[in-house]
Amino acid sequence: GKVRAPTHIISTISDDRGEEPCYAGVPMSTIIEKGYGVGDVISLLWFKRSLPRYCTQFIEICIMLCADHGPCVSGAHNSIVTARAGKDLVSSLVSGLLTIGPRFGGAIDDAARYFKDACDRGLTPYEFVEGMKKKGIRVPGIGHRIKSRDNRDKRVQLLQKYAHTHFPSVKYMEYAVQVETYTLSKANNLVLNVDGAIGSLFLDLLSGSGMFTKQEIDEIVEIGYLNGLFVLARSIGLIGHTFDQKRLKQPLYRHPWEDVLYTK
Ligand code: ACO
Ligand code: LMR
Repeated sequence: GKVRAPTHIISTISDDRGEEPCYAGVPMSTIIEKGYGVGDVISLLWFKRSLPRYCTQFIEICIMLCADHGPCVSGAHNSIVTARAGKDLVSSLVSGLLTIGPRFGGAIDDAARYFKDACDRGLTPYEFVEGMKKKGIRVPGIGHRIKSRDNRDKRVQLLQKYAHTHFPSVKYMEYAVQVETYTLSKANNLVLNVDGAIGSLFLDLLSGSGMFTKQEIDEIVEIGYLNGLFVLARSIGLIGHTFDQKRLKQPLYRHPWEDVLYTK
């Protein structure tokens, strides 16, 4: 038989060897002719399958909702300062992206991990939150700098409304809301934030769609696909902030002395 020389790379998501590129086996012409959207492309390249419309629309809503949140947040601030230092688009973009992590925008995977584990183990919100406190870990997906009980995050409400209408089950989101009810009894700003809403709802999408085995869901949560949604989405805003600063011909940024507490 044929002897195949060993390859240095294995790749399973796309193929450019034919007449046109294929994403997870779907030719580009099909993607265009069938009017696929960004949600479908993400489904093919990240999850290696076509997902039902309500799922791809949910992915697109996540992208749109997280595209930007004004100039004051960590990522935008970094991109603005970098653009004003005269750096190029890619440098300004990655400088903003590098702030995405456990405190800012990158709590989605951990929120999914902890909510899933706690919900699957049947922990009450009290047991879960107090257990986290004992371990000295802030609950990922809970808390916000400017949002609170009386100033809810509209993005979270929009995601919840969409899921209530379209998802067969919102079990994990309901668990996250019970956790929020408990954390709000401790402090006003301990709301379910957009990372927590996406993390819990994506668990509902994965388990309710019937498109993933239990093992595949565990793998997605373990590897941590979901922060990718925020990274992808916020790139749109960070690129916008970079263009904005260049368009405005903003000079080098220097932080004012008055805003620094110099102390020994
Ligand atoms: N779980 C438990 N307790 C919390 C949490 C939480 N998630 N967040 C705040 N607290 C409590 C703690 O007791 C904290 O005291 P500590 O500093 O001794 O731990 C106290 O509230 C004071 O916290 P604040 O100063 O009010 O919180 P801050 O405004 O600095 O932080 C933040 C906001 C970073 C979002 C925080 O709530 C947090 O770390 N949350 C978890 C990570 C997360 O979900 N990040 C995504 C936010 S949404 C986004 O970035 C798009
Ligand atoms: C964001 O999406 O950037 C915000 O939720 C973060 C913030 O502090 O406002």
